[in-house]
Amino acid sequence: MTTPLSLGVLISGGGTNLQAIIDAIERGDLPARIRIVVSNRRDAYGLVRAARHGLSTGVIAHTDFASREEFDRHLVTLLHEHGVELVILAGFMRLLSARFIRAFPHRILNIHPALLPAFPGLHAQRQALERGVRISGATVHLVDEEMDHGPIIMQAAVPVYPDDTEDSLSARILAQEHRIYPAAIKLFAEGRVGVRGNSVLIRDEHHRPQTGFQSPAAV
Ligand code: GAR
Repeated sequence: MTTPLSLGVLISGGGTNLQAIIDAIERGDLPARIRIVVSNRRDAYGLVRAARHGLSTGVIAHTDFASREEFDRHLVTLLHEHGVELVILAGFMRLLSARFIRAFPHRILNIHPALLPAFPGLHAQRQALERGVRISGATVHLVDEEMDHGPIIMQAAVPVYPDDTEDSLSARILAQEHRIYPAAIKLFAEGRVGVRGNSVLIRDEHHRPQTGFQSPAAV
């Protein structure tokens, strides 16, 4: 039995990705423990989800701090106090400073609702619709100092339809987020994630299907 990986989950909002991670742990599919859930917003519904599952929570409101560095210093202290080994950004809408990144080298994950490096930043789904892509998706990546940037661990693709709204596309992508975020964290928990330059190497990646999918589908 390996010791479960200690997670600190940072949120800003609804926390459906947090919920997917909690559910995977409770099902026994993810050998990890959530040590603390921290929000930069007091009204984040994800805090309610965390409390429902008996998890420790904290609020560090960015508005209480004069600088990003000060805010990040408090965040790092809180995460260290809880023995956090891997930081999970789950809809956490703040850019982290170099100080924070250095405190957890190659130990911060983010999920983004697009196939990075396409459409970083806010409203990724709207950006995809406006650009007219036929395939979009979700990306889990290691975090560096740029927004929605860093070595990619896992991606999932979904079709985009011409009559999609931001809501319908977001829902299709979110379903994939909930699948790949716990799966990517599991790779970490199993010690299978290595980094070489811009790329992530997964140890024992034996299952390598060669199939693709097209969008639009055969017409
Ligand atoms: C998710 O779609 C996540 O990919 C996105 O915020 C949403 C949070 O939802 N993150 C970003 O856009 C990061 N740039 P949730 O609070 O229900 O997990």
